[in-house]
Amino acid sequence: MSFRTIILLTGGNSGIGYEAAKIFFEADAAYHIVLAARTLEKATAAANSILKETPASRPTTNTLEPLALDVTSDSSIQTAMDNIKKCHGRVDVIINNAGMRNIILVFSDTEPELRAMSAEHMQGQPSTARTSAERFLCGSASIAHTTLM
Ligand SMILES: NC(=O)c1ccc[n+]([C@@H]2O[C@H](COP(=O)([O-])OP(=O)(O)OC[C@H]3O[C@@H](n4cnc5c(N)ncnc54)[C@H](OP(=O)(O)O)[C@@H]3O)[C@@H](O)[C@H]2O)c1
Repeated sequence: MSFRTIILLTGGNSGIGYEAAKIFFEADAAYHIVLAARTLEKATAAANSILKETPASRPTTNTLEPLALDVTSDSSIQTAMDNIKKCHGRVDVIINNAGMRNIILVFSDTEPELRAMSAEHMQGQPSTARTSAERFLCGSASIAHTTLM
């Protein structure tokens, strides 16, 4: 297979992550998109939905791969990174997107919701980036964050 940019996109099953995955998939480029979601079921459903939504008039050679990745779980991050390393040996771009929308609701959320939000944004996103860097020594990988925090 010819060279493809390997993109790891977290929180790819809805919202900005889903739309970004669709844009990468339909792009006139050579991308392999690892679409990560909290569970493999969610990631697979999102990947299938993108395949279905892509118009036949936009044929693409890009590829989509579903992956389970909960950014608040160290073991989930490590398992995901081990899988990527085994299959691809590297990651070129990380879209660190998993997190909660409507952060503005912070003023009305309950204590458990605030804790979950804090874990996703303050711990989860840096953990994913750090672990990927450790796994691949990918000092050259581009890392983009969509988080508000
Ligand atoms: N919407 C905005 O105006 C806006 C603006 C700037 C930045 N952002 C940031 O952009 C990101 C996406 O926002 P959005 O509006 O697209 O939100 P969204 O529709 O709520 O999507 C968030 C995605 O992150 C996933 N996610 C949440 N916690 C996770 C975890 N622990 N592990 C893995 N995946 C997890 C969700 O998966 P589940 O379906 O499993 O919950 C969902 O797929 C967030 O970080 C948000 O703060 C949003």
